[in-house]
Amino acid sequence: MTIKKVILSIIFLGVSISCSSQTASEVNIIPQPISIKYATGSFVLDSEITIISDVKSEEFDFIKNYLQNSIENFTRDLTFSESKNGSTSGSFIEFILDESFENAEDYFLTVNEGITIKAKSSIGLFYGVQSLLQLLPSEIYGNEKIEDEIILPKVTIIDGPRFNYRGMHLDVCRHFFPVDFVKKYIDFLAMHKMNKFHWHLTEDQGWRIEIKKYPKLTEVGAYRNETMGDGKKYGGFYTQEEIVEVVNYAKSRFIDVIPEIEMPGHALAALASYPEYACTDGPFEVATEWGIFDDIYCAGKEETFIFIENILAEVIELFPGEYVHIGGDEAPKTKWKNCKDCQNKIRTEGLKDEHELQSYFIRRIEKFLSSKGKKLVGWDEILEGGLAPQATVMSWRGTEGGIAAAKSGHDAIMTPTSYCYFDYYQSKPETEPISIGGYLPISKVYGYEPIPTELNSDEAKHILGAQANVWTEYIPNTKHVEYMVFPRIAAMSEVVWSKAENKSYSRFVDKLGIQFKRYSSMDVNYSSSIYNVHFEENFDTERKTLSLELGKEVEQYQIRYKSGESEEYENYTNPITLDKSRKIIAALFSGDSQLSSPLQKEYFIHKGFVKEVKYNNTYHNYYPANHQFGLVDGIRASNHYADGKWQGFLFNDLNIEIDLGEKTKINSIRMDFLQRILSSIFIPKSVEILSSDDGVNYSRIYYEETPDLLKKGEVFKYNIKCEPGVEAKYIKVIGENIGNCPPGHSSEGNKSWLFIDEIIIE
Ligand code: ACM
Ligand code: ZN
Repeated sequence: MTIKKVILSIIFLGVSISCSSQTASEVNIIPQPISIKYATGSFVLDSEITIISDVKSEEFDFIKNYLQNSIENFTRDLTFSESKNGSTSGSFIEFILDESFENAEDYFLTVNEGITIKAKSSIGLFYGVQSLLQLLPSEIYGNEKIEDEIILPKVTIIDGPRFNYRGMHLDVCRHFFPVDFVKKYIDFLAMHKMNKFHWHLTEDQGWRIEIKKYPKLTEVGAYRNETMGDGKKYGGFYTQEEIVEVVNYAKSRFIDVIPEIEMPGHALAALASYPEYACTDGPFEVATEWGIFDDIYCAGKEETFIFIENILAEVIELFPGEYVHIGGDEAPKTKWKNCKDCQNKIRTEGLKDEHELQSYFIRRIEKFLSSKGKKLVGWDEILEGGLAPQATVMSWRGTEGGIAAAKSGHDAIMTPTSYCYFDYYQSKPETEPISIGGYLPISKVYGYEPIPTELNSDEAKHILGAQANVWTEYIPNTKHVEYMVFPRIAAMSEVVWSKAENKSYSRFVDKLGIQFKRYSSMDVNYSSSIYNVHFEENFDTERKTLSLELGKEVEQYQIRYKSGESEEYENYTNPITLDKSRKIIAALFSGDSQLSSPLQKEYFIHKGFVKEVKYNNTYHNYYPANHQFGLVDGIRASNHYADGKWQGFLFNDLNIEIDLGEKTKINSIRMDFLQRILSSIFIPKSVEILSSDDGVNYSRIYYEETPDLLKKGEVFKYNIKCEPGVEAKYIKVIGENIGNCPPGHSSEGNKSWLFIDEIIIE
């Protein structure tokens, strides 16, 4: 299935947030530590700081520099010195290695007369430093000098992670992001105590890693001719030197990089470069649209395995971590069914079908990886046809794959779409930049429990942890990546780091206030959608009434609303009855402090409201809106074609008659049509409005042939307004569907949609 969506120009919410600043008495650490014990009083960080330690290692030198840079670059002039014997003037930060800790990642942090961080290993010390940074003012994450005294609460923090696998993924294939951003992304992971970076490096739409033996992979495979019909060549790749640079950057921050080299599917970019490893002759083209493609590697040819193993041999040299991800997802078997080599392989290997052929494929690759000391990870489709002996399963199509893997003694990493796909909408689509679909608000991410209830405690040990995935079909630039990742990464960090019994969504929401300040200091383009008020219209078809419910994602804050610009906000408690036209403006408040920009919607209880509508052509049952009241229910749609408020006519003209019940003075008639070219939704070719006293004899009161707007952006509403000043009992509206999609359109010749939301008669 090819998903056709539009890339919208993104409107980032320019939101100013006021939130409480950290005082000496509160600790806002994300992810939540195991325990925080407060002592009375606070500690003032002197401008002379001595680092005390007898730890000697490259790793520790890095940690010291990391801490020093984090504080020194960004605060009033500090001087650092080092002491081995514990003598200091001014403040001290002491690092101690202590064998008595159970796990390498655990740490202990005390602030009293000075600061002490203890751990079994450098990695624990590093996490202690991450927590220490969060005891400091949020400004230290930025570039501005802090002139005030730096005051820390006196605390003792005991901490360590719940899961060993705490992952974030990034798809650099659908859109390509430069090395500098990938490093920044790794810093984001480190800040959130994540330790696995899953780098999705190969796809249908682009091959992003230099392979010296096969230069065409990047000469040809790294570039597509266009993206979703934009006519612009697009691409890029990482040289092996750059890959090593990123891997080392991550390693010093105690993050493993897991490369993903997709097989046997999602391989069009490779096949465009080397068509001889497909089942058919080609030529192939690097994909210019999103989706799943039938052309995959041929599993019947020995040459394919040599090709892939040669690639993996280079990959293995670049990535010292224990895992290599080989994809394995979404590989249609269409070509294998008709390929004599593949069918021959099925016979000679005694395989049952194409699923077993895929299993054979993955087993061979696992054997190769394991001969090189690497473990294979694959998406849960690698279960089909039988799992390779040592494989780790990444469970994305729900949790079943993870459960099956764990029950059969295999390790699993949980990344189910419904909790872990950060390419999904984080708030209602009408207030968000266009995304692939789905709905994953931060509260849902936060509530995720990676251990499925179906597993007993032994099986549960196979759940290594969880990961959030960032697929970038609809994420064209780095600022947009940040928007989709922040703050959901913060929620995910508590899912994988914090003990389940230590989690609290309301405390997390409180902490987000300060976390947002840190993100602002870092110049991260985070989303504050968690503070959005959600507008939910309820139309009662029996009683023919409209009311509005306002919803929110956080318990502890209050929704307030008002009807017009000048009115005072009042607390929202019950649904608002819309019995006259009103503009509703609503925002979320913490006490008197407004948490985000207000959202507003206008409702028209107009002369046609809930009147009888006769459809001379039917609307399509995919887009019915409120059925027979769809155009007269007072509800207008957003720019989002699938918000449930647009009524859609496929190929049909819009042709309706509204019976106003009695002769009515008509001052104006307004309506909007939607255009969204990539979904084959076009504004009508012409719009005609007529009036009548008897519903039989109509006279034209308005006619417009719409301008050719095919090139005006991809998503917009086209407004029609007429001011006839007539009296009439009936109004007829005819919108002429353009019929078939026009030449040059990717669905040229297919039926077009016409979308309308409301006909407002005043
Ligand atoms: C996937 O989302 N296709 C793993
Ligand atoms: Zn084949």
